[in-house]
Amino acid sequence: MSETAQTLRARAEIDLGALRANVRALRGRVGTDVQVMGVVKADAYGHGAVPCARAALEAGATWLGTATPHEALALRAAGIDAPLLCWLWTPGGPWDEGILADLDMGVSGMWALREVTEAARRTARPARVQLKADTGLGRNGCQPADWPRLVGEALAAQARGLVKVTGVWSHFACADEPGHPSIGAQLETFHEMLTYAEKEGVDPEVRHMANSPATLTLPETYFDLVRPGIAMYGVSPGPEVGSPADFGLRPVMRLVGSVALVKDVPPGHGVSYGHHYVTEGPTTLGLVPLGYADGVPRHASGRGPVLVGGKVRTVAGRVAMDQFVVDLGGDVVEPGAQAVLFGAGDHGEPTAEDWARAADTIAYEIVTRIGSRVPRVYLNE
Ligand SMILES: Cc1ncc(COP(=O)(O)O)c(C=O)c1O
Repeated sequence: MSETAQTLRARAEIDLGALRANVRALRGRVGTDVQVMGVVKADAYGHGAVPCARAALEAGATWLGTATPHEALALRAAGIDAPLLCWLWTPGGPWDEGILADLDMGVSGMWALREVTEAARRTARPARVQLKADTGLGRNGCQPADWPRLVGEALAAQARGLVKVTGVWSHFACADEPGHPSIGAQLETFHEMLTYAEKEGVDPEVRHMANSPATLTLPETYFDLVRPGIAMYGVSPGPEVGSPADFGLRPVMRLVGSVALVKDVPPGHGVSYGHHYVTEGPTTLGLVPLGYADGVPRHASGRGPVLVGGKVRTVAGRVAMDQFVVDLGGDVVEPGAQAVLFGAGDHGEPTAEDWARAADTIAYEIVTRIGSRVPRVYLNE
C-alpha cells in the first residue's frame, strides 16, 4: 500500500522553495563578485543531499561542498556536475575516483599531497587540489610552520603536471561568537599564508574562509567565495548571531508526526520509561510516533516542545527509541492529528533552535540527526 504524505507515521517536509530563497538571500548579501558554495555534507544537514544540491544550484550557488569524498561521488553519480570541493580525506582515498570525477580535493598535509599525486600519475590526469590552512581552528588544515613545505611540494607537483592548485582556504573556530578575538587573528593569519602561497607562485581560482556565521556577519572574510551550510537551511548558526528571520532566512525542514494514540488516564499515572512524569490529575495522553531512533534527542526528555491540537505541549517523561508522549491536559485531539516538533515557527510551532535549547545542543545537530526512518517529503520542487 502506498503512503501519501498525510498517512505517513512521520515525515520531514523539506521546502525547496525556502532553500532557494535562502540561497538567493545569501547571494544578495555577499554581492555579485563573491561566489556561493552550498555546503551539502551530512546529507545536506539531514535535508537530502541531491535535491538540496540541485535547488542550491538553481538559486545561483556555483559550487557545492561536502566533507567526505563518498558524499561528493554520490552527487556526481546523481548527475550533478557543478564544481565540487570535498575536504575530509583519509589515507587510501578514494583519490583515483575523485580525480576522475573532477572533484576539488582539500589537502591539509603532506601525506594527502603524496597520495593525490600518486593517483594523478595512475589516472594520467592532474588532480584539482585546494590547500587548506589551519589559521587557528586547530582541526584540519596545515599549520603555518608546515605551510612552506606543503606549498613548495604542491607547486613542484603542479610543475610536473600532476596537480593544479585551484584553491587556498581555511575555516573559522568562533565566527558564531561575534567579537571573538580569534576571528581577527585567524583572518590575519589567512592573509599571511595566502600572501606567502601567491608569492611562491600559487594562482588559485578561489580563496575562501567564510562559513554561515561569517557570511551573515563578517563581509571582510568573503574573499572569492563563501561556504554557507546551516544558513542555507534557514537555521541560525547560534543565538549570538541572530535568528534566521533577522537575515531574511526561512527554515527549510518541518518535522511532523501523526498522533498514534489518545487515551484518558487517571491521576498518578506514570508515563514512559522510568516514570519521570506522573499525571497530576485525570488527563489525556497523546502518543507521538517519533523517538531517538528518528533523531529526537533523548536529552530533551521532559523538555522538548511539540505543537499538538493548537497548543505547544512538552514531552512528558522520557523520549523512547520510537515514540514519546505528551500530556494533552484533557483537550480533544484525534488520533492522526499532526504533532509538529519543529518548523518555520510562524504557525505557532517550535523551531529547531527551540529543540536545541531543550536538548542543550545546537540547532545543527537537531536537523542533521533526523534519521533515515523519517521520509523526506519535498515541497516546491
Ligand atoms: C570546512 C567547512 N566549511 C563550511 C562549513 C559550513 O558551516 P556552516 O554550516 O556553519 O555554514 C562547514 C561545516 O561545518 C565546514 O566544515
